[in-house]
Amino acid sequence: KQNFVTVADLTPDDVMDIVLRSQAFKRGAQIQLKRPVYAINLFFENSTRTHTSFEMAEEKLGLHVLSFDAKTSSVSKGESLHDTVKTVESIGADIAVIRHSKDAYYEDLIQQPRKIAIANAGDGAGQHPSQCLLDMMTIYEEFGHFRGLTVGIAGDLAHSRVARSNMMLLKKLGVNLLFCAPDQWYDAEFDSYGTRVEMDELVQKVDVLMLLRVQHERLTDQSNQTFSKETYHQQYGLTHERAKTLKPTAIIMHPAPVNRGVEIASDLVECSQSRIFEQMTNGVYTRMTILESLLAGHNLLMPQSSIKIGVKTNAISY
Ligand code: CP
Repeated sequence: KQNFVTVADLTPDDVMDIVLRSQAFKRGAQIQLKRPVYAINLFFENSTRTHTSFEMAEEKLGLHVLSFDAKTSSVSKGESLHDTVKTVESIGADIAVIRHSKDAYYEDLIQQPRKIAIANAGDGAGQHPSQCLLDMMTIYEEFGHFRGLTVGIAGDLAHSRVARSNMMLLKKLGVNLLFCAPDQWYDAEFDSYGTRVEMDELVQKVDVLMLLRVQHERLTDQSNQTFSKETYHQQYGLTHERAKTLKPTAIIMHPAPVNRGVEIASDLVECSQSRIFEQMTNGVYTRMTILESLLAGHNLLMPQSSIKIGVKTNAISY
């Protein structure tokens, strides 16, 4: 790929290819670069997991990582994202991993073929493709398939780029989707992906419970701020009482950071059905796969170095 900015164009076979490659990296697969490759992580919104795991993925692939701090960069003098990317491209960066608060910030950057490859680490309330793919890896690792599973997404769907990316891919993969959200955090467009139900019903029916973070930083409209933490937890959270009604085989996921005691009772974050920290582990390997596809797309991999997954993905049932 030249750039990796959305999951919208991925087919189920593409997803399986990415999941199997990520599993190969998890088992220790390696690649060889044609020449020294330089990556820079341009984060204009705060991040712990995505930033650190992209950096870990870059290190594991043998890339050189250039440092960048948005707060002390010339962005603070008014330099645009466009000019920032042109600048790091001119200096010699091969890959820019970008997180930005503007929806689809990348559209301008990918208009023309460029030397520098763009990986989207989250755009506003648009897409979070690397989170989505690490979620797919985590689900596949657990169940060995997607088709026929029931996945419930609960919480602040309207502001969630994770929910948008995940509902898009999960529907393509034959998953039944259930949603639970307060009216002000739900858009009618979600009805074309799944069914809206009450939280009690959702928790009882799901194979995968995906909780979403209450995004205080995006709630600028006062009408959104109608919940106390306790009220939200009781109406839309995974309480101890609700957790008892989960299927024994169901897993709990959350992109994190978690508001403990709000989306989920604090001690359930680390319970035996939680895969929240496994998601973070898988994030490193999924991001290695995303970077590998960019390295291949920009002819930066040694011939025959691309990792072999040993099977034709289109022969695999998802
Ligand atoms: N899940 C996620 O995107 O976390 P960070 O904001 O810490 O990167």
